[in-house]
This record gives sequence, C-alpha cells and structure tokens, in this order.
Amino acid sequence: MVDSVSVLLRQGRLITAGSVGEPVDIAIADGKIQAIAPHLNITAETELDLAGRLVSPPFVESHIHLDSALTAGQPRWNQSGTLFEGIDIWRERKQSLTLEDVKTRALATLKLQASQGTLFVRSHADVSEPSLIPLKALLEVREAVKDWITLQVVAFPQDGIYSAPGNAERLEEALKLGADVVGGIPHYELTREDGVKSVHRIFDLAEQYDRLIDIHCDEIDDDQSRFLEVVVAEALRRRMGDRVTASHTTAMGSYNNAYAFKLMGFMARSPINIVANPLINLTLQGRTDTYPKRRGLTRVKELWQQGINVSLGNDCIQDPWYSLGSGNLLEVASMAVHGCQMTGRDQVRACYQMITENGAKTLHLGKHYGVEVGKTANLMVLEATDAIAAIQYRATVCTVISRGKVLATTTPAQTTWQRDASA
Ligand code: FE2
Repeated sequence: MVDSVSVLLRQGRLITAGSVGEPVDIAIADGKIQAIAPHLNITAETELDLAGRLVSPPFVESHIHLDSALTAGQPRWNQSGTLFEGIDIWRERKQSLTLEDVKTRALATLKLQASQGTLFVRSHADVSEPSLIPLKALLEVREAVKDWITLQVVAFPQDGIYSAPGNAERLEEALKLGADVVGGIPHYELTREDGVKSVHRIFDLAEQYDRLIDIHCDEIDDDQSRFLEVVVAEALRRRMGDRVTASHTTAMGSYNNAYAFKLMGFMARSPINIVANPLINLTLQGRTDTYPKRRGLTRVKELWQQGINVSLGNDCIQDPWYSLGSGNLLEVASMAVHGCQMTGRDQVRACYQMITENGAKTLHLGKHYGVEVGKTANLMVLEATDAIAAIQYRATVCTVISRGKVLATTTPAQTTWQRDASA
C-alpha cells in the first residue's frame, strides 16, 4: 500500500446489494480503488470527510434515447400522449436532424445524468433514416465522453426492420459502423410474422457481429402481443440469455396470469434481462382504456420475485414521448416503487438495485462495475443513510467520482427557518 493517494474518502458507508456497511475509508490512486478499511493511515491530494454518508456504485441508465432527448415541442407537442403520436412527431423532427444537433443534445443529457451519479448509459439510436445521423452522432459522442462516462449504443430500427425497404440493410450497416447492441421493435412490424422474423434476424446479427441484444418488446397494452416468448425461446436455444434484454414488455401487464407465469418460468431459465421504464410506461400506456384503467407496466414485482434480472431506465427526457424528465434515476426508482407497488422494505431496496447492480448486469458490465479494491474507481456519495432514504428524498448526489477523479459535486439544498416554527 502506498503512503499517499490522489483521493481519500473518509468514513463513508458502502452500500452493496441494498445493504449498508459500517463506515470505512476508501483510497483511490491511478484511477483505481487501492484500499478499503475502517481507517487508513495515509495522506491524499484530495481528502473528503463523508461523515457517514452513503457511498454507492454509480447509477446505470439501462434505457434512454439520447438522439431524441431535449426536443420536446419540436415541431409540435404530443397532444394525445400516445406512443404512436410520439413516433409520428419524431418522424417529422428527424427530417431536420444534423450531427451537431444530436451531439449537442446528447452531451447535454449525459452531463445532466452524470451530475446526478449516472456513469453507465445504454442509449438507443434510431437507424430508420437513410442518413444514419443519430447513430453516427452517438458513436462520436461515445468516443468523446469515454474518459468520464461509458456509453453503449443500440442500433434501434424505430420504424421496424421489415416495414420499409432498406431498413434491414441499415440495421446491419449500423453494426458495421460500431453499434454495441442490436435493437428491434417486433410489435411495430406490419404483421405478427414480420415481428417474429425480425427477432430471428436480430439474434442472427448479434451472433454474426458478436453484439448484445436489446429489443423494444411488446410496448403495447395488447394482451395478444407475445414477442417476448419468441425472444425468450431464441435466447434459450442459442444460450445467449445474459446477453439479451427485452425492454418495456408492458403487454405483460395485460397477459392472463396462467400465461404470464408460464412465460416467467421460461424467462428465469433463459435468463434474459428485463428493462422497465416506469415514468414513460405509466404515461404512454393505458391511453385507450376508460376505467378500470391499466397501469401499463410490466410485472416488475413478480419478475423480481422469480429471480429475473430487472433494471430501470428513463427512456425519454423531454422528447416527443415524454415532455418532462430530469434524468434522475432516483425519480425512476421512486416511480417503480409506486407504479409497481414495490413498497415492502426489501422491495424498495430492490428498486435501488434496479438502478445500480441490476443495470450493470443488463449492460453486461461484469468486473467493470462495483466499489471494490482493484476496480476502476467509479462511485458516488449520496446525502442519505440508506437506499430507502435515497429514493424517498431523491437524495442529492454530493460527489461523483469517475475513473478515479472527482467529476462533479453538488451541494444539498439547505432550509433556513425565518420564523420560530416550534409551536
Ligand atoms: Fe425506448
């Protein structure tokens, strides 16, 4: 152990798998965590007294669309609030996309997220337009930000793979250009048969180019939308489960229980990852219902109870599908607690894991994630006592450390009473 390090965190309490440990010192040098112990007798260029604050591995954004972020209201607002009006508006907006336009908004969104503790992001890039501008822009951004945030780019055929000539070719071209993940949208293909064919094609491409898979799957209230079973079957047959993610799967909220539980058994065997996006799913789904009105969320609690890896994403930040959003994953976790009725103490803690460790599993980060000696020093300090309080109060992320260096600091809000409010 060296006598001096670059950053020394004094008396922070580590959160691992939802549980909080006793206060420890954490020494960081050469970009890595060098030591963790109750008290370290060393000096540092930068020493921070955490006074028992929470030290957590960073948040993981499992699902976002950086190419459309920060475009809400352009060229018009989504008045119906539906997924499909959002797709129509985006089709209009993307006619005027430029590389600079996408890069500027993507970078601004990543900074917004990183300042709030997110250091790993999976973003979808629309590859339905001939120019492939969203993909090319995000690949450039991935390179530009790599010293402080890890960006995975999904080649996402927003308008379907077989719905228009050239889409299938563009998806493959996107992989040749360097996309990390193959995407798809089987429920938006013109027919059930095209949807099934699209899933097979996605798996073929993932095998051929050695890429991960993340499919927008059954993002609809239709109880007959059953492409998830096709994804699970392919993952099982090809033994690719941990490299495969099905995003949204909101139709699961409408499946009958007999079918849903049979399917969850297959999912646990596969074992694929599921991403729920509660902010968006709660607002986009159920729009054709009167009352009773469906929540439009996938079965997060039941999937978690079956041991299936579930993580959470923002999906949209101020775009044609969702005009709100701040990029704060604690807000996403809070919405999961409410919308999925995850209110038991273990369940709230599980929602925290869904924006940290579970997200790392979805993104297939492996040994690159976690606050442990020998690992790259990516971590954050929260003004909170535990995971539940962090979600409850949307705790301020006071310090973000990326690749061993302090990246961002935020001062928690402070209230000063101006009158005696004791009685
Ligand atoms: Fe999405």
